[in-house]
Amino acid sequence: MMKDSQRLLFPEGFLWGGATAANQIEGGFNEGNKGLNIADVLPGGKERLNILMSAGFNFEIDRDKYSYPNHEAIDFYHRYKEDIALFAEMGFKVFRMSIAWTRIFPNGDEVEANEEGLAFYDRVFDELLRYGIEPVVTISHYEMPLYLVKKFGGWRNRQVVGFFERYANVILKRYSDKVKYWMTFNEINGALKMPIMSMGFSPLNEESRYQETFQAFHHQFVASAIAVKACKEIIPKAKIGCMILFAPVYSYDCNPQNILFALKEEELFNYFCADVQVRGEYPAFLKRFLKEKNIEIKMQEGDLDIIKEGTVDYIGLSYYMSRTDKKEKSEGEKAQGNIVGGVKNPFLEASDWGWEIDPVGLRISLNKLYGRYQIPLFVVENGLGAYDQLESDGSVIDDYRIDYLREHVKAMREAIADGVELMGYTSWGCIDLVSMSTGEMSKRYGFIYVDKNDDGSGTLERRRKRSFHWYKKVIESNGEIL
Ligand code: BG6
Repeated sequence: MMKDSQRLLFPEGFLWGGATAANQIEGGFNEGNKGLNIADVLPGGKERLNILMSAGFNFEIDRDKYSYPNHEAIDFYHRYKEDIALFAEMGFKVFRMSIAWTRIFPNGDEVEANEEGLAFYDRVFDELLRYGIEPVVTISHYEMPLYLVKKFGGWRNRQVVGFFERYANVILKRYSDKVKYWMTFNEINGALKMPIMSMGFSPLNEESRYQETFQAFHHQFVASAIAVKACKEIIPKAKIGCMILFAPVYSYDCNPQNILFALKEEELFNYFCADVQVRGEYPAFLKRFLKEKNIEIKMQEGDLDIIKEGTVDYIGLSYYMSRTDKKEKSEGEKAQGNIVGGVKNPFLEASDWGWEIDPVGLRISLNKLYGRYQIPLFVVENGLGAYDQLESDGSVIDDYRIDYLREHVKAMREAIADGVELMGYTSWGCIDLVSMSTGEMSKRYGFIYVDKNDDGSGTLERRRKRSFHWYKKVIESNGEIL
């Protein structure tokens, strides 16, 4: 019998919940005076990932060729009350969502905010708070106004910092008594692979890619720091974090060349943005990288002070997979589907989409991050995208999802016992939603099944999956019953 002192526990007040993003759930893409954003012009289907990863996308809608799943998504815009009631039934303490910038500033450069958009989020927050669910809000989650993309070239343009500042100020003030947890940019480091989503540009060509991306990063760091400072002034009791995509990089073997390669990849991909946003300065290792790539970042006087003064309170992270890598690899060795790249890890299974499943990697990640920064962490995304089968009686037996989540929750429990300060866990896509990388509905993450297919058909009816009942018990027992 295990002694009480040996039981691994989650701290009291641990923030259990689920996570989403406006563009992947709301729909209503042209309602309430909303303007178009990047997600609205991204087609569903196989070509989407290729568009996201390569250069030269034109940001136009072409209905003859493509469908646009984000336009209706799962219609949270009209059904939020029903969905929030289901989250409350599971016992959510928090709900992670984002505000669509284009509901508040349809083009992005207006002076006056759109009242209809502001009122929508008032209703959503009020509904959440009615059930005692705290909103966790991402200010920008892959949904930059399209007008800023076309007219200004996205985050490459310094003027966008000012537009973002206005947007952030408006929402921080408006929701100051409703939202206690904020994050600035979703997966800010993800732009190293997909600048379209968070930076609003498709590189001119592969040569210019790094120059453009690092200039845009600088603008985002300044903008993020401005928002952090504003948040602390406007809502002193709030916590505001950065949000990074974390996939630990393992060396394929003990060849020092591969170990060094993994270390350098990890520095650049996993730590570079957090170093700036948590420590308030560019890391030393970046200088050599910029020099070797001939990148010159243009800064304005005072930028580095702003970055220094606007450091975050916590690190939000998404964790889906690890990456195993080596310096020299052949085409055949590459891990198929692992979105962060690398070679196949012989010890790991992969999801239906090729993302390598590695719960121990979550414990490793939390230890690495806490060891480096010593500020609270918040796992704001983690989950299994899988094909679900709707049975004739309306049930969904998603034991594979329960297994995945159970192992990741155990890994967090271990990390807490290791000494990591962990604020909470919001599992990604707590309700089925449109996939970011493929635009599919059939890549399902939810505890709640939504009757909608890849071709747009379906009644949008919601159903509780088996994992719904499992997660409810996890929350009820504060992570003891898994
Ligand atoms: C994260 C994003 O990268 O992963 C989410 O922040 C996204 O927006 C999630 O949906 C899962 O990725 P996908 O491609 O399976 O939807």
